[in-house]
Amino acid sequence: MLAALAQVTLLCPTSPEWIRQALERFDEVLIDHAHCEKKAAAHALSMLAAFPDVPGLARAMARLAREEATHLTQVLAILEKRGLTLGRDRGDPYAQGLQAQVRQPQRERLLDRLLVSALIELRSEERLRLLSVNLPDPELRDFYARLADSEDGHGALFLRYARKYAPQEVDARLAMLARVEAGLIESLPIRAGIH
Ligand SMILES: [Fe+2]
Ligand SMILES: [Fe+2]
Repeated sequence: MLAALAQVTLLCPTSPEWIRQALERFDEVLIDHAHCEKKAAAHALSMLAAFPDVPGLARAMARLAREEATHLTQVLAILEKRGLTLGRDRGDPYAQGLQAQVRQPQRERLLDRLLVSALIELRSEERLRLLSVNLPDPELRDFYARLADSEDGHGALFLRYARKYAPQEVDARLAMLARVEAGLIESLPIRAGIH
């Protein structure tokens, strides 16, 4: 059911060219992936800091930050095993493009941040799943399958809070942001990174 959620929400599938590049330049994808997990952990704590009054959100975000930090530790261990270092964050034009859609008034900001987070988690889930079925190494395939399940759960978590917080507005806003998300996926150059 959770996997179906991703298909419902994401309006365009990842191009086969992405997985081709990702397999060919997997070390770069791994480094980008570590940065994504780092940003996901920091983002969860920033949600907790920005919206401390939303019932239940602080604890959910604290748990999420811990889970994302665990993913980060695991990806860093794989980097080390391959003799790679984390290095500089190259940035993520996809996530930046979505974050630019967040409206500023407090009420709209919470809804938009929840929905943007949900979409990023769901796109990550789709791509980690592609890695889990296409990587040649069985250990890495299992690792990415576990992570994909986890990111799917995170997408569902953000959507749940968005629905609870703004039940009247959530569907229209999600539909609009999902169109922007698909537009970014289709227009940005494909690169050896998670997005
Ligand atoms: Fe993660
Ligand atoms: Fe996540």
